[in-house]
Amino acid sequence: MLEFKQNLPFADADGCYELLDGNRIPAIGFGTWRVKDREDGAAVCAEAIRAGYRHFDTAYLYGSEESVGDAIRASGIDRSEFFVTTKVWKDDLSAEGARLELETSLSRLGMDYVDLLLIHWPRRDSEDPEWRERLTETWNAFQQFKREGLVKSIGVANFLPHHFEALDGEVPVVNQIEVHPGYLQEEAVRYCRERGILVEAWAPLGQNRLMTNPVVESIADKHHVSPAQVCLRFSLELGLLPLPKSANPDRMRQNRELFGFSLDEDDRAELMGLPEKTGWSGEHPDDAIPMPDLSKL
Ligand code: A2P
Repeated sequence: MLEFKQNLPFADADGCYELLDGNRIPAIGFGTWRVKDREDGAAVCAEAIRAGYRHFDTAYLYGSEESVGDAIRASGIDRSEFFVTTKVWKDDLSAEGARLELETSLSRLGMDYVDLLLIHWPRRDSEDPEWRERLTETWNAFQQFKREGLVKSIGVANFLPHHFEALDGEVPVVNQIEVHPGYLQEEAVRYCRERGILVEAWAPLGQNRLMTNPVVESIADKHHVSPAQVCLRFSLELGLLPLPKSANPDRMRQNRELFGFSLDEDDRAELMGLPEKTGWSGEHPDDAIPMPDLSKL
């Protein structure tokens, strides 16, 4: 079973984790999947900035990069105060494809660098026999982007342990995967922990599905907090970086109020014991791909 951290390395929502490369990353990020580039997308991001978020997670795929960039510029707060992540989609896993996507992302964001660039998904589909070569080439390109100053840190998303074998050179500083009570991805989390790779948790609320889970609700009642706060605190106590999404100003704020309570042993055991795949999105990078023998990695 995954061990919980004895103490969080920060005391409030403005705290940061330190990445393997020495850069610092705000410990709670604002997810922007489904925040579309249109007027209300920028308004949602502007509200998130007012709620205190300085870490925005976007992607070439999401169609939210312009909204993030517009909101940051309109805030009047210096660019350097923000941490912006974007991602290269799986259809462009080559040196040239990644560069084209990054250039497009930077132009949509209206920025000359991003803080973190991720490989969004390890392979095109389960049939692609050349996924390893594509990952190697793309990762080499990412290291070049870093040398050119286009990105400050580089990492991956939705990687399982065997996908990392295709990467040469620098160790990714982040692996962003789906993790929440009911979907723990223990092998991947353990693999990352052993190498100092920070795990970011997407769908930390199970995309809303955990908000009505009776176990989560009863723990929330006990601590006089909301089910969302239980799930997000769970992420932090596991040493993960949660990326909650909300279009609602009150819920955006609530999702940063995680420091007035902590989970006890019983809560942790109950959350760890939820039936596997409770609240799962149904998306798995390796659904149709044979799993290697993890003991050999
Ligand atoms: P809303 O935008 O109306 O707040 P996840 O981050 O796991 O993908 O979950 C996102 C979903 O959870 C959205 O539907 C969002 O809806 C909802 N949500 C976000 N924060 C909260 C909260 N504090 N309480 C209840 N639901 C929330």
